[in-house]
Amino acid sequence: MENREEIGTVISGQESPSPSSVDFVVNKGIVHRGQFVELPCSQGTMFALVNDVFKTNRYFERADSVKEFESSGSALFEQFPTAEWEYLVARTRPLGVFTKEGLTKRPTFPPSPGTRVSLAKKESLEKFLQFDMESGLHLGEVEHHGLSVNLNMSSLLKKHLAILALSGAGKSYLVSVLLEELLDRKREDGRIATVVLDPHGEYSSFAEPPNEKAAKDYSSKTKLVKARDIKIGVPRLSVNVVSGIIPGLSAPQKRDLSRLLSKLKSEMKQGLGPFDLTDLREAISRDEAIKENSKGPLIAWLDSLREMHLFGKTDNPSIVDLVKPGQLTVIDLGDLIDLKKKQVIVSHFAQRLFFERRNKTVPPFLLVLEEAHQFVPQMAKSETAISRSIVRTIAREGRKFGASLCLVSQRPVQLDTTSLSQCNTHIILRIMNPYDLKHIGESSEGLDSKSQEMITSLRVGEALIVGEATHYPVFFKVRQRKSQESKHEISLEKAALQFEEGKEKKDSETEELL
Ligand SMILES: Nc1ncnc2c1ncn2[C@@H]1O[C@H](COP(=O)(O)OP(=O)(O)OP(=O)(O)O)[C@@H](O)[C@H]1O
Ligand SMILES: [Mg+2]
Repeated sequence: MENREEIGTVISGQESPSPSSVDFVVNKGIVHRGQFVELPCSQGTMFALVNDVFKTNRYFERADSVKEFESSGSALFEQFPTAEWEYLVARTRPLGVFTKEGLTKRPTFPPSPGTRVSLAKKESLEKFLQFDMESGLHLGEVEHHGLSVNLNMSSLLKKHLAILALSGAGKSYLVSVLLEELLDRKREDGRIATVVLDPHGEYSSFAEPPNEKAAKDYSSKTKLVKARDIKIGVPRLSVNVVSGIIPGLSAPQKRDLSRLLSKLKSEMKQGLGPFDLTDLREAISRDEAIKENSKGPLIAWLDSLREMHLFGKTDNPSIVDLVKPGQLTVIDLGDLIDLKKKQVIVSHFAQRLFFERRNKTVPPFLLVLEEAHQFVPQMAKSETAISRSIVRTIAREGRKFGASLCLVSQRPVQLDTTSLSQCNTHIILRIMNPYDLKHIGESSEGLDSKSQEMITSLRVGEALIVGEATHYPVFFKVRQRKSQESKHEISLEKAALQFEEGKEKKDSETEELL
């Protein structure tokens, strides 16, 4: 192996070297946790991830002798060359072996003690981690290696992505970086459509030309839909959808509703035009086949739907007009407080998108669900988890149709495990909560306990990716965004100042009036 940067030598210990653990002493320079190293072995070139680094010094091994020397008044390190006996040892986890034929294999045989260890070369890492340097999505850099994290779009998204971390760790920032990459793609590389369901109105900045000169303008590729403008067309509603929104419909009531919906639909086709909830209500009260004691509750339920002010004669906006290749649609739910209403909207868009994708009337798409635990909760009853079943369906079947999900959550424990387990790539940023960590450890394949431990020491904007997209866990630093950051995040100090200034202004205006 030419031009390798040798940094250490494999040492012999009780459990190392083995196919799952290799320790080496560092002879030259420094080695950091999260770095990759390579070393020759009988099967080819072994790649390993540095899980831990620690220092040893045999002079300080025994508590009794250290204490003895120190208390005798003559400090140990002054009498003996203790500093020369300090060693830096790196503990690594072998990830795979690059065989001479160019294949990657699981390590099944250990390297010998005494084997020289080198820092992994950039080119071999790119190949080993299956980065797509030509048309991959550039999300960040692997620290210490100067390596761009360029992930193949299919491997990252096709079988769904989950982005998990505690609040403020940089999930939305990373999503913005991902959106930029999708929007910047060239047509010949394959452009998908992206729809973001945005509970906090964080992504609406994509739709506005930026104030800052340095920021990149994505406004021509972004469509913004405000929650208050959304209407769900009643003629498209099925009984199953309705009974998902209003729980407790009895079987006969569902039958009646289904019959009347079909009747109105056929009248519509005959030329009467689309109908809304008022028309449906009238049809129910006119209908003679429905028992009186069933009619009252049905009408009351419909009225509760009407109070949501969400239903109309047709869909607005129409999904087919909205979703375009290489474009971003932000559905801003920021003004809504009612969780049920948000779930109905999420459910509607997810259903329509999936349906239209199956009919190939819309391009392959990525549906980003922020605060996913609110829309796909694990524990909630189905009437308080209206959007769960369609998200589960897309999670299970979407990859066959080019319908991908990106679930974003700061509460992975509360996120539906059925959906989460279908996400074949997980990007994990900082997480501290032990329950969340345990849950992630159980749901992320290939995440060993050391990597789990390292998650707690990640800083904002640092991430670990595990799963389909890289095959091996990779720590990386999320790149800087190009788009303008939304104004939604302001400091507590600023918010307090704004409030007081606003109040003073009001007070002085009142004084002037008097
Ligand atoms: N990679 C990064 N580089 C620079 N700043 C970042 C990075 N990631 C996050 N930040 C900053 O950290 C703050 C929090 O980030 P972000 O809003 O993405 O967190 P979050 O995980 O989405 O939190 P929440 O769960 O509350 O939505 C933001 O002000 C953002 O600018
Ligand atoms: Mg966020």
